[in-house]
Amino acid sequence: MTNSIKTLAVLTSGGDSPGMNAAIRAVVRTCSFYNKEVFGVYEGYKGLIEDRIEKLNARSVKNILNRGGTFLKSSRSEEFRTAEGRKKAFENVKKHKIDALVLIGGNGTFTGAHIFYEEYGIPVIGIPGTIDNDLYGTDYTLGFDSATNVVVDCIDKIRDTAESHNRMFLIEVMGRDSGFIALRSAVASGAIDVILPEEESPMEVLITEITKGATNQKTHKLIVVAEGNKLGDTFSIANELSKEFPQIETKVTILGHLQRGGAPSCLDRILASELGVAAVESLLEGKTDLMVGRQNKKVSYTPLEESITKKAALDPELLRIRKILSI
Ligand code: F6P
Repeated sequence: MTNSIKTLAVLTSGGDSPGMNAAIRAVVRTCSFYNKEVFGVYEGYKGLIEDRIEKLNARSVKNILNRGGTFLKSSRSEEFRTAEGRKKAFENVKKHKIDALVLIGGNGTFTGAHIFYEEYGIPVIGIPGTIDNDLYGTDYTLGFDSATNVVVDCIDKIRDTAESHNRMFLIEVMGRDSGFIALRSAVASGAIDVILPEEESPMEVLITEITKGATNQKTHKLIVVAEGNKLGDTFSIANELSKEFPQIETKVTILGHLQRGGAPSCLDRILASELGVAAVESLLEGKTDLMVGRQNKKVSYTPLEESITKKAALDPELLRIRKILSI
């Protein structure tokens, strides 16, 4: 491994996700293992601009592997979108003699990292951290597994009460632009339908599905709605359905930010640990401007530009089997 990189820094940016702490821990400990200095930047790019940068060591990251959120905190920095903001950030990178950066986050984080690398030539590696799983170049992003486990647990609970009262429930899950959480949790919880941002979901089709379910003696009516779907906001969908099925009481549950909290699942802890090590090792090997991911059980590297411009596709097999299983 090349020794030209002596000092690294790590930050988390954008919406937090379970597993970010585990990834920070892996980055810091890998740096210690290779005798490299490592800084933690607080509140993402905002902290890089405001010089909220502190030295970390292997012990600074004890007891965080199992904790949700990010102890470095996170933000969405408007200032880093500007050339002046990035210049201030670069001044601080120089001040602390930081040779390379590890950025944990999603699309916005990687867009910033890519521009920063192009402008200032500071080597950057991204670790995919978002519950949305919407990044091209990795099978899973940090937090997706934990979030879907939370969602499935909630839907199981809603099913109990939905069954008891013969009610219809629309359960809104996160996914401003993507339906990964919605699709996976719908299949895992046996919902009768799922409304995704990636698909047109005409009201007539939804009505047909619900009618079919009733004809087939289905005793619950659970529908998973991704927040960014094309049909409209969840309360309006529920209103439409209430008009169509006045005999069924229809309720809405918005799961919201509780999907982003809680301890990371085992899968997320392992993914975070592997990607944290891979991020540091790849920088030390001279790689840059890439996202580290896992594809087909192997660490993979995708140019940051590709990871932000290409669209991660929903699993076609899940899309197919949801129709078969909700019969
Ligand atoms: O973390 C991604 C995400 O959960 C999106 O699905 C959602 O739309 C967004 O973050 C909301 O986050 P915030 O309230 O932090 O803006």
